[in-house]
Amino acid sequence: MTHESRLARGLGLGGSATVLAALLVAGPALAANDNSSGSSDSSGQAPHLAVTESDFDKTPQGQQIERYQLTNRNGMSVDIITFGARVQAIHMPDKNGKDADIALGFDNVKDYIDHQSTYFGATIGRYGNRIANGKFKLDGKTYNLPKNNGPNTLHGGTKGFDQMIWAASPIDTGNTVGVELTHFSPDGTMGFPGNLAVTVRYTLDNDNDLRIHYSAVSDKDTVINLTNHTYFNLAGAGSGTVLNQVAMINADQFTPIDKTLIPTGQLKSVSGTPLDFTTPKPIGQDIHADNQQLKYAEPKQGGYDFNWVLNSDGNLNKLAVRVSDPKSGRTVEMYTTEPGVQFYTSNFLDGSFKGTNGNTLGHWGGFTLEAQHYPDSPNQSNFPSTELKAGQKYTQTTVYKFLPE
Ligand code: BGC
Repeated sequence: MTHESRLARGLGLGGSATVLAALLVAGPALAANDNSSGSSDSSGQAPHLAVTESDFDKTPQGQQIERYQLTNRNGMSVDIITFGARVQAIHMPDKNGKDADIALGFDNVKDYIDHQSTYFGATIGRYGNRIANGKFKLDGKTYNLPKNNGPNTLHGGTKGFDQMIWAASPIDTGNTVGVELTHFSPDGTMGFPGNLAVTVRYTLDNDNDLRIHYSAVSDKDTVINLTNHTYFNLAGAGSGTVLNQVAMINADQFTPIDKTLIPTGQLKSVSGTPLDFTTPKPIGQDIHADNQQLKYAEPKQGGYDFNWVLNSDGNLNKLAVRVSDPKSGRTVEMYTTEPGVQFYTSNFLDGSFKGTNGNTLGHWGGFTLEAQHYPDSPNQSNFPSTELKAGQKYTQTTVYKFLPE
C-alpha cells in the first residue's frame, strides 16, 4: 500500500482528505528525510533496532489505543501511543547501566484525559503555546478560538491534537525504526481555518537520536505551530526535581511576556537576567531570583516558562539546547529547524496526582524543550510567520539526542 492510500485510509475520509493526503506525500521530502538522518550505523548495520506494536489501553468510549515501542542496541526504548501521538515513556540506562524512564507520563488513557492540561509527551496543535485573547486575523478575516488559559488560547484550544486518536503505522528503514502518525483536522476545528492533514514521524536510531519530523497541508490559508510536549527528568520521572540538572540554551535573546504570558513583541537580551543559559548552569541556580519576568511565569515559587530565540536559527546541525544530569550522567541535546524553544520547568505540577509506575510528579519535576515558532505569532507581525498558505507544505524536524556520560 502506498503512503498516500494509507494516509487517506487512516484519515477515514474521502474528498478533501484524499486530496490533502496526496499533497502531503507529494515530492521526495519525506523519503529524503529518512535517509538524510545522518544516523546510519558506522558498521553499515543496525542490529537490535526494532519496533513493536501492542495494545496500550482503551478510551472511556472503548476505542483502542496502540503503543509502538522503538528500541535500539544501547538499551534505549521510546514508547509512542496513538492517543495524542505522544511520547509515553523513554527508557535509558544511566552511567552505571541502571535503567530509568526519563519522560513524565501516565500508564492509562483516563489519566491523560483527566490531566489534559499537563500535555505530557503530546503532539501539540494546531498552534503550540498561546494566542492572545483567542483571536487572530488572517487575509482580513478575524478567527475566534476557544479560550482555555485565562483570556488566551493555549496549545490549540480545548480539544487539541493531544486529545485526538491518530492513525499509525510502523517504520523500519534499516537505520531507523519508528512510527508514522496521521491526523485529519477538519476546516474550522477549534476555530482554525482549513482542512488540515498532519503527519508526525518519530524515529529512533543506534546513535540515540529520537527524530520527530512533522508535515502538514491545508486547503485554505491557515496558521500552524506544532511542537512536542515531553517533560524530561534525566534522573528518572518521579525522582525529585530537575533543579540540579545543568542546562545550556543557545540563545542570546528571549521574547519577554506580560502577566498572561503573552509576548510583548520585543526581543530582549538574556544577558544579566536569570534567563541567561548561554553558559551551562543548574536549572535551579537563578530560579528564585527577584525578577519580574520570572514572577509572571511562576508567581509563587519560581520557574521558567519562556520562549528563547535560538541562535541556531533553524539550522538542524547547530546545537539548540543541552541538559545534563551530573548524578546519572544522562544528557539530552536538542536540534531543530524551529526558531524558538519553550523551556518550561513544570511549574504547575504540585504532586497531587501520580504518573507511570506511581511516580510522584511535583513542582519542577521535569522540564520541556518545546521546539516552536514564537507564541502568539499570528498577532505579532515582527515575529517569524506561522502562516501556512493553501496547498503549501509545513515541515519541521526536531531531534532529541540522548548521550550517555
Ligand atoms: C506552557 C505553560 C503551560 C504548559 C501546560 C507550556 O508549554 O508554556 O505555560 O502551563 O505548557 O502544561
